[in-house]
Amino acid sequence: MNDARPSRSVLVTGATGLVGSAVLSRLVAEPDLAIHVLVRPGRDASPPERLAALGRYLGRPDLADRVVVHAGDVALPRLGLGAQAAARLAATTTDVIHAAAAVALDPDDPAVLAANVLGTRHVLELFAPHSRLFLVSTAYVAGLCPDVFREADLDVGQAFRNAYERSKFDAERLVRAAYLGAAGSLTVCRPSIVVGEYATGRALKLMNLYQMLRLLAGFAQRHPGAEFALEHDPESTQNYIPVDCLAAMIHEVFTRPACWGQTYHMVNDRPVRNADFRAMLEAILPIRIVNRALTASDPAFNHAAVRRSRDYLAYLRAGPRFHCANRDRLSSAAAPMAFSQAFLERLLRFGTGPQGGRHASVGL
Ligand SMILES: NC(=O)c1ccc[n+]([C@@H]2O[C@H](COP(=O)([O-])OP(=O)(O)OC[C@H]3O[C@@H](n4cnc5c(N)ncnc54)[C@H](OP(=O)(O)O)[C@@H]3O)[C@@H](O)[C@H]2O)c1
Repeated sequence: MNDARPSRSVLVTGATGLVGSAVLSRLVAEPDLAIHVLVRPGRDASPPERLAALGRYLGRPDLADRVVVHAGDVALPRLGLGAQAAARLAATTTDVIHAAAAVALDPDDPAVLAANVLGTRHVLELFAPHSRLFLVSTAYVAGLCPDVFREADLDVGQAFRNAYERSKFDAERLVRAAYLGAAGSLTVCRPSIVVGEYATGRALKLMNLYQMLRLLAGFAQRHPGAEFALEHDPESTQNYIPVDCLAAMIHEVFTRPACWGQTYHMVNDRPVRNADFRAMLEAILPIRIVNRALTASDPAFNHAAVRRSRDYLAYLRAGPRFHCANRDRLSSAAAPMAFSQAFLERLLRFGTGPQGGRHASVGL
């Protein structure tokens, strides 16, 4: 018997993304874990080159030696792997962390269905139910559910804001059907909106909130002291989870067998009210955000900014309420993550600063 053989062998999809990279940076510290990642070729970089770039970003220049890279694409049958390579991987993988997805709120983006629904189906075809699956879903499978959405809930007859939410809901349904007789092997992680690290605001990719902050910061720079018209419900809440807090929770459920087989709302226990969010922004940026519909006399930039953020602004209305009984039992969930003005300042500083955290700027 070979005692040196790692006891678990995990395949991570989505490792070049905001969430997957943060999870990977924790997994590499696990001594008895073989790590495989599925990576697409980039526009200018091969999968191994992308992994090397990720290692530099994570401060782990040894990443390429620690991790086995498979060039592939979840939207393709067998994840784009050759028949033999796919069979070998399926036979030796004890665990899958499936984080790959097209996180696009644009209703016309064809990648959403291909990556999120078809991609999940392809993962299941190779690995379910003999490998444990840690699915990175989203808390917004709750869609527009008007009631408190529980971790045990999925289909409560909810409507969805966009095709992305619907695709993640469909993917969760597929996964639950595939693990029906093996529920202990399926762990579902449902993050809320993911933002940068709590202490620094640093993020590998600038999405969602960052885009809106950049637009608002640009407006404030051009029109200091001006009004910015933004219709919102002041009492609704937004739920942001710092990516390092999320990665710690995913890492905890991955490494503690007692956590397996559950669903976790990996959300902030203190969502921020729109009214408070607005007050924080106004304390940081020299603008006044007024809660009203745009009029013809508002500047073109205000019109353009609202138009460009339209898909995201849907999240400023009717914030869902997530029940978190399983999440609250995680020790990692006790980490500080309050959405304070100081945190918003860090997000703004990073998101609008020169490094900008843009994917391309780190060679990914
Ligand atoms: N960001 C959020 O606010 C948020 C909130 C809730 C849940 N989530 C979930 O968290 C997970 C990770 O999202 P993220 O925030 O890390 O997004 P992200 O930064 O855009 O990363 C997405 C990852 O998926 C990979 N990917 C996309 N399509 C793929 C394909 N066809 N084949 C292989 N890999 C593919 C991307 O690879 P490339 O680098 O090649 O593009 C990237 O590694 C997703 O399941 C998402 O639904 C995210």
